[in-house]
Amino acid sequence: MSEVARAVSERGELVLRRREVDGALELRANGVFVMDDRETSSEELLANAALSGNPDRVLVGGLGLGYTVRALLADVRVGEVVVAEIEPALVQWMRDGLLPSVLDDPRVTVAVGDVREVVTGQADASYDGILLDVDNGPDFLVYDANSVIYRTGFLQVCRDKLRAGGVLTVWSSSASPELEGAIGNVFGGCVVSPVPVELQGRDETYYVYQGTAQSGSS
Ligand SMILES: C[S@@+](CC[C@H](N)C(=O)[O-])C[C@H]1O[C@@H](n2cnc3c(N)ncnc32)[C@H](O)[C@@H]1O
Repeated sequence: MSEVARAVSERGELVLRRREVDGALELRANGVFVMDDRETSSEELLANAALSGNPDRVLVGGLGLGYTVRALLADVRVGEVVVAEIEPALVQWMRDGLLPSVLDDPRVTVAVGDVREVVTGQADASYDGILLDVDNGPDFLVYDANSVIYRTGFLQVCRDKLRAGGVLTVWSSSASPELEGAIGNVFGGCVVSPVPVELQGRDETYYVYQGTAQSGSS
């Protein structure tokens, strides 16, 4: 491994490093694998699920290596992407060119902060899509404080910020019947998309959960 960048915040240590075995760029938080740039199909599927409606204004929770945001920007119908990212160092690394940037696109605004506060601060019925990929999912948290993101209270806040027909999509590294139930309760239904992936030689399945705001739900 060769280290590309390292930062320490109140949440712990964030490291960007290059794997020698395959040359992949890898992000780790407190020693836990967050993602790499080799297997990004589920991050892109997260965006594609949001693009199924009328995706003019979209909020993304978690910048990561930028794959979800890049997939959104590839769609000309997307007029504005607000990205909530809690780690200022990651935003700076992207601005400094340590990883390919999605921040130069004039449609992108970054809000450095917790996605819970960023979403809560938005006007009701103002988004066509909200995409949450801030952790490994409700059952394998990198940050314990993120557990509330997958629960009814915050999911209701997300629903309130969506226009009728707007879509909430949530990424998870494992199947979560609880998350499916919570989204189903809040949105009146939940679509689950398993995504088979190969992760460093192992077959895994990631999951994308999706709820659509009904008219009059906000
Ligand atoms: C798995 S990565 C996101 C990957 C991204 N979808 C992509 O395509 O590269 C998770 C990101 O969420 C950020 N994060 C974690 N908790 C957060 C929170 N509560 N609010 C905002 N960002 C958060 C992490 O710092 C990390 O950048």
